Amino acid sequence: MSSAIFAKIVQLGGALLVLFVARASAQDPDIARTCTAYKKSVWEETSEFSFLIENAPIIYKTLDKCTSYAPLIIGGGPALPKEFPHAVRLGHKDDKGEVEWFCGGTLISDRHVLTAAHCHYSPQGSVNIARLGDLEFDTNNDDAEPEDFDVKDFTAHPGFSYPAIYNDISVVRLIRPVTFNDYKHPACLPFDDGRLVPSFIAIGWGQLEIVPRTENKKLQKVKLYNYGTRCRITADRNDELPEGYNATTQLCIGSNEHKDTCNGDSGGPVLIYHKDYPCMYHVMGITSIGVACDTPDLPAMYTRVHFYLDWIKQQLAKN
Ligand SMILES: *[C@@H]1O[C@H](CO)[C@@H](O)[C@H](O)[C@H]1NC(C)=O
Repeated sequence: MSSAIFAKIVQLGGALLVLFVARASAQDPDIARTCTAYKKSVWEETSEFSFLIENAPIIYKTLDKCTSYAPLIIGGGPALPKEFPHAVRLGHKDDKGEVEWFCGGTLISDRHVLTAAHCHYSPQGSVNIARLGDLEFDTNNDDAEPEDFDVKDFTAHPGFSYPAIYNDISVVRLIRPVTFNDYKHPACLPFDDGRLVPSFIAIGWGQLEIVPRTENKKLQKVKLYNYGTRCRITADRNDELPEGYNATTQLCIGSNEHKDTCNGDSGGPVLIYHKDYPCMYHVMGITSIGVACDTPDLPAMYTRVHFYLDWIKQQLAKN
């Protein structure tokens, strides 16, 4: 009798475990399919071969050029050419054609850039221009293909309410589609919420809002660690965070080192590598505000992209 009950409990436990594993690895099929299509669009070449015999079958050969970059060193450093082809700079162009760049973003389709909602509240003006394919700005001697795109419009998340930084997410629509190549290519949306991911890559040029980096104009990358729910303790409640850290909608990420270039641009991506495509990334987080860089073990909050997938997909569908 009691052993029968025990067997039942074991069975139930097994079923629950299966359920849990299935839930943890559930990925959105649309997002997975789109991610594969993006990877193929640039990094796979299919060529035809046929023997010089009449009616010989045509054989298709696929060459996969999707290779990985050098693993990220602790502390990071300047990005390599073509390493982050989804990196976008966002700025405001005035009537005289002068541009001030103040935010970063992530290309997520051929026409959409993911960024932070607060980038639309910049003292420099509204976001009306996006630069793709850049590496080191103000130079033409680097291995890059910068190209500017006018902005058609943007949609900030309806739950964003400045100066609070909850729901700090926005989708910018470009006026014309981007032609994908090695220099301009989207990142994939997340397959999961990133809770179990140990480390991330943040990138950016360190524009006005976080670190004015005048002498260093190269795109920088940095490795940051997942601090789990530590932000509940470390984050003070203030105007930006009236309710403190929200683990459902925010990632808590930081570094145990003293880093003066520890953060990317506001609005820019926090990334992980795609597990099967070494040339591809997932954008897991968006750099928000209130991010301090110079204190070791003081993690900061980033928008947790996975929570907003349904809303992002609505924006992508608008076209
Ligand atoms: C965190 O954000 C979610 C989504 O906006 C909300 O439903 C939830 O109540 C928030 N949690 C806390 C503790 O504020």
